[in-house]
Amino acid sequence: MGESHHHIGLPVLEDLPDPSGKNVLLRADFNVPITDGRIDDDLRITAALPTIEWLQERGASVTACSHLGRPDGKPDPKYSMDPVRERLNQLAPGVDLMDNLRFDPGEEANDQGFVDRLVEGFDLYVNDAFGACHRAHASVMGPPARLPSAAGRLLAREVQVLGDLLDRPHRPFVAILGGSKVSSKMGVIEALIDKVDHLAIGGAMCFTFFLAQGKEVGDSLVEPDWVEHCKRFLAGETHHKLMIPTDIVAMGPNEEVQVFPGDIPAGWKGLDIGPETTLHFISPLENAGTILWNGPMGMFEDPRFQEGTVMVAEAVADSHGFSVVGGGDSAAAVAKFGLDLRIDHVSTGGGASLELLEKGDLPGLAALREASNAPK
Ligand code: 3PG
Ligand code: MG
Repeated sequence: MGESHHHIGLPVLEDLPDPSGKNVLLRADFNVPITDGRIDDDLRITAALPTIEWLQERGASVTACSHLGRPDGKPDPKYSMDPVRERLNQLAPGVDLMDNLRFDPGEEANDQGFVDRLVEGFDLYVNDAFGACHRAHASVMGPPARLPSAAGRLLAREVQVLGDLLDRPHRPFVAILGGSKVSSKMGVIEALIDKVDHLAIGGAMCFTFFLAQGKEVGDSLVEPDWVEHCKRFLAGETHHKLMIPTDIVAMGPNEEVQVFPGDIPAGWKGLDIGPETTLHFISPLENAGTILWNGPMGMFEDPRFQEGTVMVAEAVADSHGFSVVGGGDSAAAVAKFGLDLRIDHVSTGGGASLELLEKGDLPGLAALREASNAPK
């Protein structure tokens, strides 16, 4: 393992007792997007294969468990694991998969009785569910207190890459953040602003910054409760690192589409960054040493509003710097545009990657560090 302090003490597969002939409980994050019973993107399943193969090659018998969606503590056929089980059988024959963990209210409640039932019959526990490590749920928190435990390969790599990003980025370090809600990104913006050289803010969250700048936003999505916070942030010492959009692609009352520099008129809704902003955002990427991108620049599901996200994705892929794309929508975007293989690290975590960048640790990592076999 590398020297990043973020995972000192995190037990890895080599810290487990000999897995030969043992029953291993593998917590994975197989919370994949599914439409009409079909998996849209199986990155979270393929990403767990190295850990599964490592265990199987050493004679372990592997049973995986995961949540899928938010069924709210009761069985719901809508959140059946069957499509995942079918794909897993193709990719990793011989791995059993439990029912959706969230069919039992004990999972989200971190109920100790549920943990008892979960670990019964298992000798070892491996957590490869990076995307769920920000949730203090039973399957993440409980088993390390009861079984010799380890971080799987995927989890260890995520922690390594995201930890190094904070500790020793190659400069210039450029972050591009998007998404609709400033309320869910402010923590990570504030954590990153001291570490990066440039931080660009796209996506609908830019409109709350527009309000803070005194601009008109028309019918664009805003969070009025956050305007004062954004104002203070814009007035802060680090404001010179911030890049806020200067032009916006908006849709009018009759679905017409137009670019507005500055104010967005009443009746119009901003749905993508404009061409001037896009060039501004991608210009520092050419010479960047490190790039972090999380969150789309606009409503890229609609081709009329995908340009900003496509251009940013391509510039991130073209860059010679070390490129990291945060999970969720931006990972889906690079996959959709066929650019995923040209990104150095596409994270499998959405909320988890943001929380790790923001706080430097996650509940699931802390639980693993407390395992009896963890390095001291
Ligand atoms: C995710 O998709 O972000 C993880 O699987 C966690 O899911 P959750 O947000 O429903 O807890
Ligand atoms: Mg989520």
